[in-house]
Amino acid sequence: MTLKVYTKATKPFEGQKPGTSGLRKAVKVFQQENYTENFVQCILSAMGGALSGCTLVVGGDGRYFGKEAVDIIIKICAANGVRKVMVGQNSILSTPCVSCVIRKYNTAGGIVLTASHNPGGPNADFGIKFNISNGGPAPDAVTNKIYEISKNIVEYRICPEVHCDISVIGKQEFLVDSRPFTVEVIDSVVDYVEYMKEIFDFRAIKDLLHGAAGQPLKVLINAMHGVTGPYVRRIFLEELGASQDCAVNIEPLEDFGGHHPDPNLTYAADLVKAMQEGDYGFGAAFDGDGDRNMILGHKAFFVTPSDSVAVIADNTDYIPYFKKNGVKGLARSMPTGCAIDRVAEKKGVEVFEVPTGWKYFGNLMDAGRLSICGEESFGTGSDHIREKDGIWAVLAWLSILAGRNMSVEQVLHSHWETYGRNFFTRYDYENCESDPCNKMMSVLDAMSGDASMVGKQLSHGEKTYTIAKIDNFEYQDPIDGAVAKKQGVRILMSDGSRVVFRLSGTGSSGATVRMYIESYESDSSTYTKDAQEVLKPLVEIALQLSKLSEYTGRQQPTVIT
Ligand code: G6P
Ligand code: ZN
Repeated sequence: MTLKVYTKATKPFEGQKPGTSGLRKAVKVFQQENYTENFVQCILSAMGGALSGCTLVVGGDGRYFGKEAVDIIIKICAANGVRKVMVGQNSILSTPCVSCVIRKYNTAGGIVLTASHNPGGPNADFGIKFNISNGGPAPDAVTNKIYEISKNIVEYRICPEVHCDISVIGKQEFLVDSRPFTVEVIDSVVDYVEYMKEIFDFRAIKDLLHGAAGQPLKVLINAMHGVTGPYVRRIFLEELGASQDCAVNIEPLEDFGGHHPDPNLTYAADLVKAMQEGDYGFGAAFDGDGDRNMILGHKAFFVTPSDSVAVIADNTDYIPYFKKNGVKGLARSMPTGCAIDRVAEKKGVEVFEVPTGWKYFGNLMDAGRLSICGEESFGTGSDHIREKDGIWAVLAWLSILAGRNMSVEQVLHSHWETYGRNFFTRYDYENCESDPCNKMMSVLDAMSGDASMVGKQLSHGEKTYTIAKIDNFEYQDPIDGAVAKKQGVRILMSDGSRVVFRLSGTGSSGATVRMYIESYESDSSTYTKDAQEVLKPLVEIALQLSKLSEYTGRQQPTVIT
């Protein structure tokens, strides 16, 4: 029996503009009649000629509304001439796994259902992100096209009779408008786990965890009730044989247990507390969709994401994938601390500074110029896929600990001894009123165009900094020439210290101001100091210069990382 396609009249919704990483809104917004249908149709329409007969991957982090969205996507894909949809069982696929599956099966792209680290549940957030055929988030040109289409949409196509059971692995075949249409429900973890076993030496990690060469390393992995739970179970418990108590919160929950699934010192406080007790030598947490990670050492020794990527880049000898493929280039997002730049310099490879957002790394990787990159926002990854990858980062760290036979803290100290230490902190002022924050950014933007700012001295207590350069970061993609403007105001000091201000692009309401502070020290007596203490004068200077408290009405940040 051939199923019928219906064309439904609809009206545009305002604001279907994908942000740093997809369209993120409150669940209630997506639940409005036709809202999700419209956006999915716009994604497909933006594919143009690549749509008909293609295969798409669909899955997400298991948050509330995910299964409903999968159902809508399947029905709209069926009606738009898509040949096959590969869906994660029960809708579950981590963001890195979607990227892995798109690449492995050469599909035209994928749709990821996640609001990443934003809370989930009926009163929290949902998100839809489109990834292109390289497995990475759609670049600006594509997301702009989707947005343009969304402003004028008048109808969408849907095949309501395609009913699929996404709890059962296997193929379900349909005839839609006399065309074959397949939904293949895939195991959520198998392809990804196989790939990790190719990239890393699981034997070496297993030996580390079991103490083949000395003390066993006790690890504590916290999946924060996000999508990584099933991956953690398969990799750490089954493949690597870690004991059950090494993995916590590994049941994915639609509301992440009511928590904020963001792996940082504030929102992963239970991991920090457990690590402080001293029983574990290595701790890690992931965000809702599994692309972010936080690494902790014994007694909760914190590895900043900016240091983490630098350490991985410096220790690629312990990772078979890089031994085989070599390291072509390194990169970080603009606000990320510059530790990786020093590694690139020593290794004699290129280093790129891109705007915030993983999508900016994709072209460089596709062109064979970038192997390892990271962001201060707890994203670390490589060209093995086109998304950042939380579990990959943990396996990279464990490989390094195994290879060097050192603790996390020892690895960091040895890194600082070689390169000096880039102290880094980020202050977040979440959910502020938008207008005053926009005003603050435009005042800072004006400052960045004011030549008289250069050479200006700014002091707090004993410390004085001289402005060497101030700009609103602009990036031209070296591969396709695309330009991204006004990506954040950078104030670069003459001693290499930096202050950066930008507005978050991932919130679902209001404005979140981020202030990033960095200073470089090469005097080894400072290495053990607390970053907050070392950076305090520059923080105060940045607060004064921006008048941040006046604009936001906040005396304290919501989160410090
Ligand atoms: C997402 C992206 C990251 C980016 C981060 C920035 O997680 O995948 O690549 O760094 O958002 O978020 P923000 O809220 O600072 O715009
Ligand atoms: Zn995420």
